[in-house]
Amino acid sequence: MRTLNLLFLSFCLADAKGVPVEQRRRVVQSFSVRRNASSDTTPLQVGNGNFAFGADITGLQTFKPFAIMYTWGWHNFSLPATPGQTSIQDYTGLEWWTHGRLVPYEQPNPAQNDISNWLRENPHRLNLANVGLHFGGAKVAESDLEEKTQELDMWSGKLTSSSKYNGSNIEVQTWADSDSDTVAVQIQSLLLKKGRLGLFLDFPYPDKEKFNAPFVGHFNLTTKHKTTLEKLSPRSALIKHTLDDTSYYTRIKWEGSEATITGPLNGTHRYILTPKSSSKIQLVITFSPTPIFPRNKTTYHQITAASRTYWQNYWTKGAFIDLTPVKSDPRALELQRRIIQSQYLTAVNSASDYPPQESGLVNNGWHGKFHLEMNLWHTLPFARWNHFDLFHRSLPHLYTQLLPSSLSRATKQGYKGARWGKMTDPITGRSSPGEINSLLIWQQPHPMFFAETDYLSHPNISTLQKWDTILTETANFMADLAWYNTTTKLYDLGPPMYPVSENTNPNTTTNPTFELAYWRFGLDVAINWKNRLSQPIPQHWVTVRDNLAPLPIVNSTYATYEGIPNMWLSPETTFDHPAQAGIFGLLPPSPQVNVTVVRNTAERIRETWRLEESYGWDFAMLAMNSLRLGDVEQAVEYLLHPVFEFDDAGYAVGGERVPTPYFPNSAGLLVAVGMMASGWIGDEGVKLPEQWVREGAVVEGFVTAL
Ligand SMILES: *[C@@H]1O[C@H](CO)[C@@H](O)[C@H](O)[C@H]1NC(C)=O
Ligand SMILES: *[C@@H]1O[C@H](CO)[C@@H](O)[C@H](O)[C@H]1NC(C)=O
Ligand SMILES: *[C@@H]1O[C@H](CO)[C@@H](O)[C@H](O)[C@H]1NC(C)=O
Ligand SMILES: *[C@@H]1O[C@H](CO)[C@@H](O)[C@H](O)[C@H]1NC(C)=O
Ligand SMILES: *[C@@H]1O[C@H](CO)[C@@H](O)[C@H](O)[C@H]1NC(C)=O
Ligand SMILES: *[C@@H]1O[C@H](CO)[C@@H](O)[C@H](O)[C@H]1NC(C)=O
Ligand SMILES: *[C@@H]1O[C@H](CO)[C@@H](O)[C@H](O)[C@H]1NC(C)=O
Ligand SMILES: *[C@@H]1O[C@H](CO)[C@@H](O)[C@H](O)[C@H]1NC(C)=O
Ligand SMILES: *[C@@H]1O[C@H](CO)[C@@H](O)[C@H](O)[C@H]1NC(C)=O
Ligand SMILES: *[C@@H]1O[C@H](CO)[C@@H](O)[C@H](O)[C@H]1NC(C)=O
Ligand SMILES: *[C@@H]1O[C@H](CO)[C@@H](O)[C@H](O)[C@H]1NC(C)=O
Repeated sequence: MRTLNLLFLSFCLADAKGVPVEQRRRVVQSFSVRRNASSDTTPLQVGNGNFAFGADITGLQTFKPFAIMYTWGWHNFSLPATPGQTSIQDYTGLEWWTHGRLVPYEQPNPAQNDISNWLRENPHRLNLANVGLHFGGAKVAESDLEEKTQELDMWSGKLTSSSKYNGSNIEVQTWADSDSDTVAVQIQSLLLKKGRLGLFLDFPYPDKEKFNAPFVGHFNLTTKHKTTLEKLSPRSALIKHTLDDTSYYTRIKWEGSEATITGPLNGTHRYILTPKSSSKIQLVITFSPTPIFPRNKTTYHQITAASRTYWQNYWTKGAFIDLTPVKSDPRALELQRRIIQSQYLTAVNSASDYPPQESGLVNNGWHGKFHLEMNLWHTLPFARWNHFDLFHRSLPHLYTQLLPSSLSRATKQGYKGARWGKMTDPITGRSSPGEINSLLIWQQPHPMFFAETDYLSHPNISTLQKWDTILTETANFMADLAWYNTTTKLYDLGPPMYPVSENTNPNTTTNPTFELAYWRFGLDVAINWKNRLSQPIPQHWVTVRDNLAPLPIVNSTYATYEGIPNMWLSPETTFDHPAQAGIFGLLPPSPQVNVTVVRNTAERIRETWRLEESYGWDFAMLAMNSLRLGDVEQAVEYLLHPVFEFDDAGYAVGGERVPTPYFPNSAGLLVAVGMMASGWIGDEGVKLPEQWVREGAVVEGFVTAL
């Protein structure tokens, strides 16, 4: 009790002061990213959540073809010509035995490899273009530029890059619009006036590979696609890019100098913009799936003003944590750096109208598709950090949009309700063929987690109504998937299924700890929802919730799943995501969860788990588990674990299994820090190391975790 009071007091102290705007600005700008060479793995980006521009050391894509990515528009390769596999309807998937009946799953069918692969690889996301400095035909390499410096100011969204070529300065400023697919660029150099410096635009063709990192697409497959200079005026040009059935437009407007555009250069899709009259040019480059462009923001100045306003709002309106007063512990400053840079990068890459792909708008992973189970990580920070405008960009409309395909998936498999897919895209809603894709289930209760989070901050009838159908169909499926075991007279999950940790035999995986706990949580939210709406509660939801199999325990620890051989004793049971830590770390405390067992489990994970092979949000989940167990020190250690790496610009490093960047890590970090800053319902308040609070660490405006 005494500890609780103390913590509560420190919470009041830390929160009461708040972080004034000037201080927020100082903290954010103290982590401005500075580079003096291009990175081999990550760009510096400007963007708005739906659109991002990745720059090399020149502020453009002069030497490294980093991507310009977006949310809309996707591309398909042509369908296979293989007889019997020429249409989507030819694809059958596979039937697997599921509690005595054959159920069709969206899995690659070895007899239909071509169409199975096509469905996984299509549609895929494109890199829209490259824009770089053109040195009047001279072959110039990055090493030919001198005095290269670059600074990304996250407070305004401004990227400034300068260098010297052949004795002349080149200064480039790069900005993105706040709400359109627009990049604004200013170039200043005497070389412009001399006709020795201009700009190139080039357009790539996509790749079939699962991972396109660090670069996306090919610039030498020129015969496979087409570009045309549709319109050229004294101060603007329009280029149309056509790739099979996909086409989109690039509009370039310029001010400050006369210029012309020529191209495409023979055998390429490269266009050259040559300024003439001045040593300064300002360009506004906008991408659009149709030749209709925003009319209200067309000048460089309008874009830079929009960017400044947008970012200043972002930094001043949401929650803030200031650890910079902590001088005695260098971990605080490193954590602060990760926090600020992750806040910027998630707003640029993940605050999308759809869930982001794991590598955001930096490059393509899994063909540019998104994973619905990862969406919890991606979107939750926007709620915890009180950026509900960003949370609501994709929610709940994502689920409304995917509802028809998810109802149909469940129906085909003989279940009620909506079975959400896993790896999907916003156009088709199809779950990409894959064994894990079709058998993973932890994405199913996510709508309940989101809805409850939304309701706790917006407890009114609109919130209840907008989520009601989604929750109803989700619960219908969840209750129906749980299988009544006549021996135990309890409801089982699986087999077949994959648990969070994707590394077990799906035919023997039964009653995994995390999924059982999440099922109970999800059905509970759905039942409460009906109560709040004064609607009748489907009896089956209650029956299943109250009669789910107990969480499996081995030697007073939570096992990965019921009956798992050699839990903790074999390297095979102690790697991949330690999801049993999520029942307390991620999910709210529940009477069904035995805290002594949670504590034993946490110790066992710390002692035996192969964390050196872990990647991702495991560390955030373990940190939150530690926080709820009262071990703040361990939480800080997890968040700074050597494997949980962030590069100089704050990009979460992927690893062997996923490319860099891996944004679930950035999101996980922010969710965990949110819990450190404001606790959870039932134990609100700051959970930072007490010494940090004593030295003046301040938090403000967080939304308490479930
Ligand atoms: C470039 O940056 C690196 C890392 O920040 C630094 O060690 C190096 O001294 C810098 N080089 C120059 C020429 O500024
Ligand atoms: C790609 O194919 C899907 C069908 O799988 C279709 O819905 C979509 O419109 C196509 N997209 C493009 C850009 O052709
Ligand atoms: C699981 O069972 C299905 C048949 O229902 C079979 O095709 C598949 O190979 C089995 N997988 C493993 C790993 O045993
Ligand atoms: C460098 O500048 C000098 C004089 O300004 C010029 O004569 C020379 O051609 C330039 N070299 C290149 C590679 O542009
Ligand atoms: C085409 O470009 C890719 C990189 O996008 C490169 O790996 C490949 O070698 C190039 N092919 C040719 C023939 O130049
Ligand atoms: C364009 O390139 C092709 C082959 O790459 C060449 O045969 C042709 O002469 C070139 N045309 C011009 C105008 O350079
Ligand atoms: C610009 O116009 C778009 C619609 O074309 C609108 O959504 C947006 O709010 C406008 N922005 C400003 C700053 O007026
Ligand atoms: C519910 O809350 C949201 C957000 O605070 C608000 O925009 C909406 O108008 C409210 N609806 C009702 C019916 O009160
Ligand atoms: C019912 O549950 C028991 C105990 O968990 C298990 O051993 C058995 O395999 C289950 N029955 C079926 C048919 O799955
Ligand atoms: C459980 O504890 C016993 C006694 O300490 C030990 O022999 C056994 O190997 C343990 N089993 C597991 C799965 O940890
Ligand atoms: C929690 O687990 C511990 C250790 O296995 C056990 O001793 C205790 O009885 C359990 N508590 C409840 C309420 O089941």
